[in-house]
Amino acid sequence: MAGKQWEFIKVSDNLDSLFRLDGKVIVITGAAGLLGQMHAEAIAAYGGTPILLDLNFNAVQLLADSLNQKYDINCKGYQVDITDETQVKNNANQVKLDFGCINGLINNAANNPKVETDNSENFSRLENFPINIWEQDIAVGLTGAFNCAKYYGVFISENIDGGSIVNISSDLGLIAPDQRLYADPNKPKHLQSVKPVTYSVVKAGLIGLTRYLATYWAEDGVRCNAMCPGGIENGQPSEFIDKVSNLIPLKRMAKANEYQGTLIWMLSDASSYLNGSIVPVEGGRSVW
Ligand SMILES: NC(=O)c1ccc[n+]([C@@H]2O[C@H](COP(=O)([O-])OP(=O)(O)OC[C@H]3O[C@@H](n4cnc5c(N)ncnc54)[C@H](O)[C@@H]3O)[C@@H](O)[C@H]2O)c1
Repeated sequence: MAGKQWEFIKVSDNLDSLFRLDGKVIVITGAAGLLGQMHAEAIAAYGGTPILLDLNFNAVQLLADSLNQKYDINCKGYQVDITDETQVKNNANQVKLDFGCINGLINNAANNPKVETDNSENFSRLENFPINIWEQDIAVGLTGAFNCAKYYGVFISENIDGGSIVNISSDLGLIAPDQRLYADPNKPKHLQSVKPVTYSVVKAGLIGLTRYLATYWAEDGVRCNAMCPGGIENGQPSEFIDKVSNLIPLKRMAKANEYQGTLIWMLSDASSYLNGSIVPVEGGRSVW
């Protein structure tokens, strides 16, 4: 035959199973929340065991019951305040005892500050923002993620094959909030609502933590990456949804289940060479 023979590059033998999470025990913080539940279900559907942590014990217990029934697994919910180092340390030991190993961690919990619409004094504004709310938001979003990396992460680093840490940042970890989205033409400037400063600080901080962890246990096989989701359409006023959608090349907000595919990819061997990456999943919002 004339010309160059086509050389076949061997694809992985196990291409079908690359995305599977069988036998993987994966800790999710804030598992009772909107996205936490989506993460948990995706992990269960791919054969993994989600470990459901939240302040709300009833909610994670109910979620565990329903996932165990639906997927015939044996996952469990725990009440843990991730801002409390002792609780995180004790829970990490407990999960290790209960499940034998920990293969993954999703730092998902955060305070999601609602944009304040009170007319008296708008505390979401930087000039009014109370120090105690600053401290609470940083405690959950950053100190909590640090505590979890410290205790669950160490166990992950002790596995022969390491594991995967995924930090849930936001499109607002990449770009500034567009405060015009929240503007009310009938209010004076000092009463205009804004996205609080802590959201930007926490979400950008998680990107720093991601890069730090991506190198810290790399030789032990621990990969760490950040996902930056865009806003989920979840009952907001239609005027707001239209304004946000206009800032997004795909012209719409996300559905709650649209992060599951990316998450499974980031946790599984399908992303075995992904490390230290900051992955925007925001319909292209940060591209404009
Ligand atoms: N929902 C969105 O549109 C969106 C967009 C981009 C990024 N995100 C990010 O995704 C993540 C999940 O968002 P969500 O919408 O599911 O939030 P959510 O408010 O529905 O859930 C957060 C969960 O965290 C738990 N939590 C709070 N403090 C805790 C603590 N100290 N210890 C343990 N658990 C605690 C809460 O009880 C709650 O169940 C957050 O980091 C958020 O910033 C969300």
